[in-house]
Amino acid sequence: MVNIGLLGFGTVGQGIVDILNDKSDKVLLKDLYIKKILVRRLEKQRQVKVSKDKLTLNPQEIIEDKEIDIIVEVTGDVDLGYKLIKKALKNKKHVVTANKALVSKHFEELTQLAEENHVYFLYEASVAGGVPILKSLKDQIKLNSISKIKGILNGTCNYILTRMTEDGLDYSQALKEAQDLGYAEADPTSDVKGIDTLRKLRILSTMALGASIREEDIICHGIDRLSALDIKLLKERNMVIKLMGETVEVDGGYKAIVQPKALRDDSYFAMISDAYNAVSIEGNFSGLLNFYGPGAGMHPTGNAVLTDLIDCVANSQDKRSPLRDRKLDNRNKDIQGRYYIRVSNWKEDRYKLEGLVDEKVFENEEELAFITKELKLSGILNILKEVKNYAIVNIEY
Ligand code: NAP
Ligand code: HSE
Repeated sequence: MVNIGLLGFGTVGQGIVDILNDKSDKVLLKDLYIKKILVRRLEKQRQVKVSKDKLTLNPQEIIEDKEIDIIVEVTGDVDLGYKLIKKALKNKKHVVTANKALVSKHFEELTQLAEENHVYFLYEASVAGGVPILKSLKDQIKLNSISKIKGILNGTCNYILTRMTEDGLDYSQALKEAQDLGYAEADPTSDVKGIDTLRKLRILSTMALGASIREEDIICHGIDRLSALDIKLLKERNMVIKLMGETVEVDGGYKAIVQPKALRDDSYFAMISDAYNAVSIEGNFSGLLNFYGPGAGMHPTGNAVLTDLIDCVANSQDKRSPLRDRKLDNRNKDIQGRYYIRVSNWKEDRYKLEGLVDEKVFENEEELAFITKELKLSGILNILKEVKNYAIVNIEY
C-alpha cells in the first residue's frame, strides 16, 4: 500500500479522489490510499464525499507523517505549497503538483532539490491540464533540439473566446460559465490577463530549449481588453481569435510571447474550441508534433495528476532533473508582425495613431479599428503606451 497526503480538495483534489474511487480493475490504483487531506474549511459541502476524519486543517499532520510516501499538492496556494513541497522533498517524499504558479516561480530550485534527494517532483497537470505534454517533451528533449513551441494553453480563455465567437455570449457571461465549470483559477485575473498561459509557456520553454526562460522574459497580453466588436470584425475576415503562447529559438537567442492571435478560421489552432488545449513542438529529428486534449476540469486534470502518481509508484520516470543550463539571449525586441488594433475614444489619440494605420477596418465616433503593416511590436507598444484604451491582436496568415 502507498500512502498519499493530499493537499487541497477542490476541483482537482476531488477529481483525483473520484477517479480513485472507481479503481475497479486498475491494478496500480488499488495500491494507492489517500491517508489525509488538507483543506481550509472542514464543514464545506463537497461534490465528492470522504469520511470526515480524513480532513485536516493542519498541514504538519501530513508532511510530518512518516507513513505518507507521496504528497499531492493541489491547493493553488503558492506560498504554502512551496513551503510544504520543500519540506516534503527534504523528508524524501515524492511530490506531485498541478500548481503551475508554484512550479513556474520555483522551477529550477525544486527540480534540483528533488534530484538531490533522489525523489520525484512531477507536475504534468501544471501545463495544459489533461494533455500529457510534459512526459512526452521529456522524452523528446533526450533526442531532439526543440526550436519551436506553440500552443493554446489556457482552457478558460479558449472557452470564453469560443462562446463569444460561436454563440455570441458576452465576455462576463462566458467567464462566469468557465468558472462554474471549474476551469478558471480561484482568481481568474491570471487566466484572462494571460499570466496562466505565460507560466505554462515558461515551464515548457525552459524544458524544451534547455535554458532558463523566466516569467519576466516573456511578453504578455491577455484577452481582457478584447470586445465582441473585435471578434465580429475579424470573423468577417474569416479569422478567429485565440490566446496563444509561443517560443522560438533564433540563432543564439529566443523570442517568447503570449498574445491573442487572429488565425485563419480553417487552420489547426483555430479548430481548438471550448476548454481544449493544443501544443505543437518542433524538433530537429521528430519534426512537428501536435498534442491535443482537455486543458482543464476535474477529471482530465485529476487523471493527469494520477499518471504522475503512478509513475512515482512504478518508478517509471527518470528522477534526474530534465533542466539544462544553456544560455540564450532574449530577442523579444525583434518580434514583429501585422497587428489588428482597436482604440476607444480614438479621436483624442488620432495624431499618435497616424503612423500605425495601414488599413481601416471600422470607424465610428468612439471606436477605430485598423490593421498595421508588418512592424516591430516594441515600436507599436511604444506608441500605444500613450493611448488609454486599446486592444491588440497579432494577425497570423
Ligand atoms: P480549488 O478548487 O480552489 O481548490 C483548492 C483546494 O485547496 C480547496 O480544497 C481549498 O480548501 C484548499 N486550499 C487552498 N488554500 C489552502 C490553504 N492555504 N490551506 C489549506 N487548504 C487550502 O482549486 P483547483 O481548481 O482544484 O486547483 C488546484 C490547483 O490545480 C491550482 O494550482 C490550479 O492552478 C491547478 N490546476 C487546476 C486545473 C483546473 O481545471 N481547475 C487544471 C490544472 C491545474 P477548501 O475547499 O476548504 O476551500
Ligand atoms: N485555469 C486554468 C485554465 C486551469 O483555464 O487553463 C488549467 O491549468
